[in-house]
Amino acid sequence: MKAPTQIPELNYTPGFVPQLMEAVNACGVVKVFGAIDSDTLARLRVEYDEILATDEAGVKDLGVEVGKACNVIRAELAEGRFPATMEFFSRPWMQEASDLYWGEPRILNDNIFVTREIPGTQHLAQSLHFDVQETLKFFLYLNDVTRENGAFSCVPGSIGHTRAVRAESGSELSYENREYSRQHPFSEEEIVPVEGPAGTLIVFTTEVWHRAGLVSSGERHVMRGHTRTPIGGKARKKKNSEEGRKADRPKRKKRSWLQRLFKR
Ligand SMILES: [Fe+2]
Repeated sequence: MKAPTQIPELNYTPGFVPQLMEAVNACGVVKVFGAIDSDTLARLRVEYDEILATDEAGVKDLGVEVGKACNVIRAELAEGRFPATMEFFSRPWMQEASDLYWGEPRILNDNIFVTREIPGTQHLAQSLHFDVQETLKFFLYLNDVTRENGAFSCVPGSIGHTRAVRAESGSELSYENREYSRQHPFSEEEIVPVEGPAGTLIVFTTEVWHRAGLVSSGERHVMRGHTRTPIGGKARKKKNSEEGRKADRPKRKKRSWLQRLFKR
């Protein structure tokens, strides 16, 4: 079967989650309109500026050199902070989507990444990849986004290739060996930019090959919730985005070339 080449689009309606997740499982990504009303979007935009400006507990600056990126670690945030953002990323339909995706309850959006990308912003997520740790993401544009100001881009239907890579090199996959999650057979023509007005929500699994767009002009303002932590699992305290990984992760013991040879 030929993999889909278009991004499916759905309008949010109560009860749409089974259809949504069927499309996510088939294509890896769905563009959702109408998931946020204009008043809530306006409140999120105010909180977006506050999050990027604060150094309070629960908001970690990821230290990008150009632009700004923070990780909001909800378990560490003072109660009542950023209420519109917390309410949006706690919506019951998202939990339902997560339950369907994982087949078990997971902590919904325990990390929310808040980013402002501008011309010159550079991070690892700008090359096509799948995430080492499979994650369901709720990715919200807070401003109008086109390919010029860095539309999220992906290869719809590329989940099958990820499965093959994981089967082939499973134990080799790690943040230190990220080349396995970055070598791909896709051409530039197969990478589709997901453009949309402010309020567009992209629901995707990181098993689909994806990348952040490069901003050639303007800015891109995004909040994105990450869902993968099992209930009872520890919410990540360290930077865990493609932008933020640094040497603070415990180093995995390097295997010799001989060990690597026999592993294959
Ligand atoms: Fe990623």
